[in-house]
Amino acid sequence: MNKVTPFVYEFPPAIVGTMENSNQVKCQVRAQRVLAGGVSSQFRATDPIVFSHGRGSRIWDVDGNEYIDFTLSQGPLIHGHSHPSIIAAVTEALTRGQVWNGLHEPEIELAEKLVEIIPCADLVRLGCTGSETVQAALRLARAFTGRSKVLKFEGHYHGWLDSVAASINPPVDGPESGTAPKPAAVRWSSGMARHALDDLIVAPWNDGDALEAILREHSGELAAIITEPCMCNSGCVEPATGYLARLRELCDRHRIVLIFDEVITGFRLALAGAQQYYGVVPDLAIFGKAVASGFPLSVLAGRREIMGILDGRTIHAGTLNAQTGCVAAALASVQLLESDRATYDRLHAVGNELKAGLESAARAAGCVAITMGPGSVFHMGFPHAARGADRSPIRNYRDVASTYDMAKYGRFVRHMAGRGVRLIGRGIWYVSTAHSAKDIQQTLDAARSALQALASEQ
Ligand SMILES: Cc1ncc(COP(=O)(O)O)c(C=O)c1O
Repeated sequence: MNKVTPFVYEFPPAIVGTMENSNQVKCQVRAQRVLAGGVSSQFRATDPIVFSHGRGSRIWDVDGNEYIDFTLSQGPLIHGHSHPSIIAAVTEALTRGQVWNGLHEPEIELAEKLVEIIPCADLVRLGCTGSETVQAALRLARAFTGRSKVLKFEGHYHGWLDSVAASINPPVDGPESGTAPKPAAVRWSSGMARHALDDLIVAPWNDGDALEAILREHSGELAAIITEPCMCNSGCVEPATGYLARLRELCDRHRIVLIFDEVITGFRLALAGAQQYYGVVPDLAIFGKAVASGFPLSVLAGRREIMGILDGRTIHAGTLNAQTGCVAAALASVQLLESDRATYDRLHAVGNELKAGLESAARAAGCVAITMGPGSVFHMGFPHAARGADRSPIRNYRDVASTYDMAKYGRFVRHMAGRGVRLIGRGIWYVSTAHSAKDIQQTLDAARSALQALASEQ
């Protein structure tokens, strides 16, 4: 059996609330007593601050500390916290009911809108989370092709469920990791079914030749290739020029279903996600996070020929699918995004201003920060000192894993929290339409001071 990788980033423990009798500490102690692991999601465990409310670009913790929020709850809050039009739409919808064992008109309206917007969408299905909807896509691809294996890429995340819970953040230097051109599938969690990964093949991303070599061995067995179109979960690495087109071409040649996991990129890189932004259309795509601006709604979208099998031959179900409030949130959010053609230019401009400002603040403090990504979502990290002046490109997970000093970034996150800026410990930054010029200035001021403090520690 492959070695299990514990999902732990090097990161200092709880950031704020070190004062014995703060509300923060009291709440965290209560949480530890009754919530397994002290949280409701593993991604929250490194830094479980207890919050009381959020508005626009800002959140407040239970001691009244205010933060500019670049976590956006791991991405969904494309319009920031508690946007008035979204909350009003949800509130109005909820006065008429929560969920029906049938259809409702706004659900059909949302499906019509998604089919209009998303290039690969002849048909859609609604669900609640990205993880479950990835499973629906894989089941559909298997039914369509009559094949069983699925290929995912090292460093990509497609939810926490067994069939894809491998090689998300594996060690890269042990014998269990395989080789760079042919990585092994490394288990992400204990407790996974013994045969969970039997149908999974792992490949390095952004390397068409390595993929072709793997396909020479496995193409006849593969139902699907699933990819984050931009590797947001590991370093926010963008696809090399022509890479997604090559994936498209290889899938066509070998009759493999190409699946874009747009859970992060959807409604964030562009209204129609990465398939619009990079101009390559997959067979199936999964949307989550930003589609309903923080309410639990996910979307499986795809070609009629494949999606049509969801007529009872292939099963997808869910008691809580298409809740009225979630559908209302998605309609309101998409309407906001559509109402101003400059929205995405602005989101990317804000991100790019942050990227440039952070890199220059690091230079001023005598260190190097690398930022990567399209702007509306990006990654920041500090290269290991041992990397020296090596500036070779970062193209895949192994480059990311060997480049960044995560412990140093963890200390930076702590310094930023102390200066009123809330960041994700993995290095990913999410930008919302609520982030203002003042927020950016305040964030860069905080970064200059945090980087000086970081430099003085060394
Ligand atoms: C690319 C990607 N796919 C799937 C998922 C899983 O989505 P969810 O957390 O809604 O289950 C995530 C979550 O972060 C993700 O980033």
